[in-house]
Amino acid sequence: MTDKKPSSEGLRGQVAGKTAICTVGKAGKGLTYRGYGIEDLARNTQFEEVAYLIMYGHLPNASELKLYQEKLRAMRVLPQPLIDTLERIPKETHPMEVMRTACSLLGNLEPEKEFSQQHEAANRLLASFPGIICYWYRYSHEGVRISVTNRESDNLGAYFLELLFDKVPSELHSRVMNVSFILYAEHEFNASTFTARICASTLSDIYSCITSAIGSLRGPLHGGANEEAMDMIDSFDSPQEAVEAIPKMIAEKKKIMGFGHAVYRKSDPRSAIIKTYARQLADEAGSSEIYDIAEAIEEVMWSTKELFPNADFFHAPAYKYMGLPTKLFTPLFVCGRTAGWAAHVFEQRSDNRIIRPAAEYTGPDLRKVKPIGER
Ligand code: COA
Repeated sequence: MTDKKPSSEGLRGQVAGKTAICTVGKAGKGLTYRGYGIEDLARNTQFEEVAYLIMYGHLPNASELKLYQEKLRAMRVLPQPLIDTLERIPKETHPMEVMRTACSLLGNLEPEKEFSQQHEAANRLLASFPGIICYWYRYSHEGVRISVTNRESDNLGAYFLELLFDKVPSELHSRVMNVSFILYAEHEFNASTFTARICASTLSDIYSCITSAIGSLRGPLHGGANEEAMDMIDSFDSPQEAVEAIPKMIAEKKKIMGFGHAVYRKSDPRSAIIKTYARQLADEAGSSEIYDIAEAIEEVMWSTKELFPNADFFHAPAYKYMGLPTKLFTPLFVCGRTAGWAAHVFEQRSDNRIIRPAAEYTGPDLRKVKPIGER
């Protein structure tokens, strides 16, 4: 068994508020969004149904879904000042910085003037994030100015692929993106969502809440882990090489990205779901090398340290098989998680008290300021 820290450091295990949106690893429930199990949602819904569920509280019926998808489609257009800015951001910039800047800029151009506009603002972000990041990526890397509006795909995941590759994705690729966005859509009081809630608790605007959440998600201990996991998998030429290297890395106290979790102790239910699709994509590609390395890492991590893959790990080979550049992996997480962040902002606002924990002081005792010449 792993040597888990029993302490409450990092607010581990402490209840920091109430939520009706999600359960994470609760006995008898597992991972649920508004009472629906993650496996059920991943198998039977589209991402837009899940986003609607999370943000409006119920699963849409057929006409509500149609209207919602039409609404999101109409919100894809990017304002010219945003396009101008995207064109000025250098190719070397990390795409999460592009997302953060674009979210903030949209808040300048289309501010949320009253909280009654919160759903509109959240939907605007949800609808425009794929266009924002793909527009910047294609312009900075290929010199191409893409159209973000004249696209066939209704589903946001498929739309992302269509923008990136200029073709409507296959059934399998659309399905994987759909499931991926569902898996990433919500996860209770994780670091980025808690960031959004703290910001919301000051009664700030929703663009500020989501901009700060993007900043939190970026780190490698949170959403950035899917990119780091891919870099690690890429660094091995064979499963055998990984099996030999990982125990050494563990012995050197290196973090193996895409493994472990702050709440789950035995497994992350999202991993098995995305792993199945990574396998299907490997079969489709007719080359299982990346998948085999990933699976070998999974096995050796369990046998060496009883650590299991979290949601990010098998996302890495799945995205790679679809041809997605590694640096776009974390922005894809943003595209899904925006639904969860927004719902938490709404929930925080609906019953708010400013979030302001206490700290245990470890600094010097009370002392006097010496005149500057005596210091
Ligand atoms: N690789 C190597 N060791 C790990 C590990 C990993 N991925 N995850 C946890 N451990 C180790 C910790 O270092 C700790 O050892 P220590 O007590 O000697 O310091 C021990 O296992 C117990 O850690 P735990 O309390 O379970 O983790 P945490 O709650 O402090 O941190 C994460 C949770 C997710 C931040 C951590 O598992 C991690 O850094 N994972 C890699 C990054 C990642 O995949 N993030 C995405 C999360 S969805």
